Amino acid sequence: MHNNIEAIAREIRLCTRCRLSRSRRQAVPGEGSTRARIILIGEAPGREEDATGKPFVGRAGKLLTQVLNNASLTREEVFITSVIKCRPPENRRPRKREIRACLPYLRRQLAAINPRVVVLLGGVAGEAMLGIKKVGDVRGKPIERERIYMVTYHPAAVLRNINLLPYLSEDIRLAKELAYNET
Ligand code: URA
Repeated sequence: MHNNIEAIAREIRLCTRCRLSRSRRQAVPGEGSTRARIILIGEAPGREEDATGKPFVGRAGKLLTQVLNNASLTREEVFITSVIKCRPPENRRPRKREIRACLPYLRRQLAAINPRVVVLLGGVAGEAMLGIKKVGDVRGKPIERERIYMVTYHPAAVLRNINLLPYLSEDIRLAKELAYNET
């Protein structure tokens, strides 16, 4: 079993572990630095991600890029991916069994990159990785496990409710501080 990021991405692009492989145009393994200190994990690819094979390139992605840049981070220095790597039809919520089938890829990406901080964007990522469903209860508070986790709002949720933007921005800033400042 190969565990470097490119080998994992190749496996993901050929994956047939669940039925989303039949409806996808392209799988979206993720992109960024293989030595990233921060990994950001969304929910699932949407239409534009499915069309391009790249993570977070639609409207939510543009917002995420902006929020990263405002925190003096670039997309190139972090790693951006999602819990599941193939688009669900009509962007429906990923099913439990799809998440179960796909999670080993994310776990291998985490092991290969070994980031200091894991940012979980939205309730699907929060639940898949930590069993946390309600983002509002835990956002802004780093959760220390084998690495530091932060759960925050998904950029798509921020697009639906712009009042959430300061929270997402603050959480990304804190993630940067935790990842880059020696303690
Ligand atoms: N939303 C996600 O959760 N992931 C993407 O890659 C794009 C949008």
